[in-house]
Amino acid sequence: MEIRRVGVVGCGLMGSGIAQVSAQSGIPTVVLEASPALLEAGLSRMRKFLDGGVAKGKVTPADRDATIGRITGATDAAAVRDCDLVIEAVTENLSVKRDVFALVQAHLKPEGILASNTSSLSITEMAAATARPARFLGLHFFNPVPLMKLVEVVRTVQTEPDVEEAGVAFVQKLGKTPIRTSDRTGFIVNRLLVPYILDAIRAFEEGVGSVRDIDQGMTLGCGYPMGPLTLNDLVGLDTTLSIAEIMFDEFKEKRFAPPALMKRMVTAGFLGRKSGRGFYDYSVEPPRPNDFLAGRPAATRPGGGER
Ligand code: 3HC
Repeated sequence: MEIRRVGVVGCGLMGSGIAQVSAQSGIPTVVLEASPALLEAGLSRMRKFLDGGVAKGKVTPADRDATIGRITGATDAAAVRDCDLVIEAVTENLSVKRDVFALVQAHLKPEGILASNTSSLSITEMAAATARPARFLGLHFFNPVPLMKLVEVVRTVQTEPDVEEAGVAFVQKLGKTPIRTSDRTGFIVNRLLVPYILDAIRAFEEGVGSVRDIDQGMTLGCGYPMGPLTLNDLVGLDTTLSIAEIMFDEFKEKRFAPPALMKRMVTAGFLGRKSGRGFYDYSVEPPRPNDFLAGRPAATRPGGGER
């Protein structure tokens, strides 16, 4: 089954990126949001990214305009009725996602495929709550979606082979590389990435190194494009915390247990780039390690021991 028309539900950081790359690959794409204000915020994020691409000489003005022309914004779920594939990219909450799929499947044509961009929730549980579990799969994109080349294609025990193949072909059409995985929490990438980020936080907590030195250890020592603490700020500490909690719940292994420092930072609102502060402070350019972690005497820091 060829994917000729795509729906994306949720136009936040991930949803807007997915809609953008879908439209950029030539596919008419419908974006569904809960309100006109949220829709406009997502559309303007796409426009800003495409304008940035034009400024960098990566996108031609004609391609930018054609991409925008292929995107239709909607707040009524009936807009997805003719889509071949609808990808959900709403908040990481199983009951919210189930509600989204109930709404979408009521309008979507019977042969339409449903997909979730979840990073850690069970695809099988979502699929089971729909009337078409055989036409359901995971398509897990990476942040920032327009720049990251990988998509995990997740099959459940119920996913029909032609649905998995349609997912793989769709990812290839986006110019990205698909990797196939089964529905185990964290799939391939987060199973490896999340313990690595959590270990970096634990190393910091134990005084092994400063924020900057831990990051430089991995960028300059191992050639990673970003250090683990910078990457955690990009992903969002609340997102990593939620993934870690779900993975710990699934595997009951210490390597997935969220460090106390990360929990406290999330409670304090230090969520990373999106809140302006995480392990780094983004109010200055270049960002510098958060004063909370680096500058103040240990005795005045919440929790006492971090630096
Ligand atoms: N439009 C088109 N191209 C653009 C662009 C735009 N608006 N902005 C940047 N680019 C291009 C640049 O021109 C450059 O292209 P080149 O390689 O051909 O020169 C390339 O994108 C890289 O851009 P920059 O030079 O501006 O930035 P960096 O070199 O610093 O790279 C990065 C940025 C790609 C984000 C890199 O730092 C990186 O790969 N970081 C790691 C990100 C990562 O690991 N993401 C996964 C997170 S985990 C996840 O998402 C899973 C979830 O479940 C938690």
